[in-house]
Amino acid sequence: MKNFRLFKTNDYEELSIQSARVFSGAVLSKPNGTFGFATGSTPEGMYKELVRLSNEGLVLFSGITAFNLDEYYPIAPSDEQSYSYFMAKKFFDLVGVPLSKRNIPGANNDPKIDCDLYEEKLASGDLIEMQILGIGTNGHIGFNEPSDTFPGRTHLVRLAESTIKSNAKFFKHPADVPKSAITMGVGTIMMAKRILLMVSGEAKAEILRDALTGPITPLVPASALQLHRNVTIVVDKAAAKYL
Ligand code: GLP
Repeated sequence: MKNFRLFKTNDYEELSIQSARVFSGAVLSKPNGTFGFATGSTPEGMYKELVRLSNEGLVLFSGITAFNLDEYYPIAPSDEQSYSYFMAKKFFDLVGVPLSKRNIPGANNDPKIDCDLYEEKLASGDLIEMQILGIGTNGHIGFNEPSDTFPGRTHLVRLAESTIKSNAKFFKHPADVPKSAITMGVGTIMMAKRILLMVSGEAKAEILRDALTGPITPLVPASALQLHRNVTIVVDKAAAKYL
């Protein structure tokens, strides 16, 4: 399969540990580097393992600069459903990433201006050493939903109905899921030096096969990864069903 480095694991626990190994290896070799973070249920186990490694003093995260993939819009960073809150509570606060080095897209004023500022901030620093990614059941990466073109840069996006449905599990009422989000573009993601794609569960098996072995098309945004030269994929058995 193309140039992907593929780790097949037995279950979610193994996937989390293997992903943590890959990611902490990247941090150990660049302790002051820039790293890209993702939210969702898939990376939660990896974050737990990274916190454990950090508590044992095996990896330090205090020197890194963090950029997150995406955030709902509109949402306050203090909202428990926000990705800012997720990252703070499940990772950044626990491993000591300084507040000044946490970057999460969000709009205070005009979303267009804030998206451009996010891109500028990314462009003015070092390239992302490793970008963590999950995949949506519709093939989205970040919140780049299936469409006619690959979005280049950070932008405001209207969420697909299927995404709103999938993410309703995190909210009290399905109607509470925000209808829009700000996300790095596919082009932004592709700038990362390395990508760590994590995929778990049978519900993702078909779309993962399409993304990795099907045509490169914006209808399956993750298929763009076929054009990246350094992608590590960690899957569990269920997600690897059709590989
Ligand atoms: C979310 C996020 C993505 C994530 C994906 C899968 O909506 N925007 O960054 O990778 O959908 O989420 P999960 O890991 O919960 O299946």
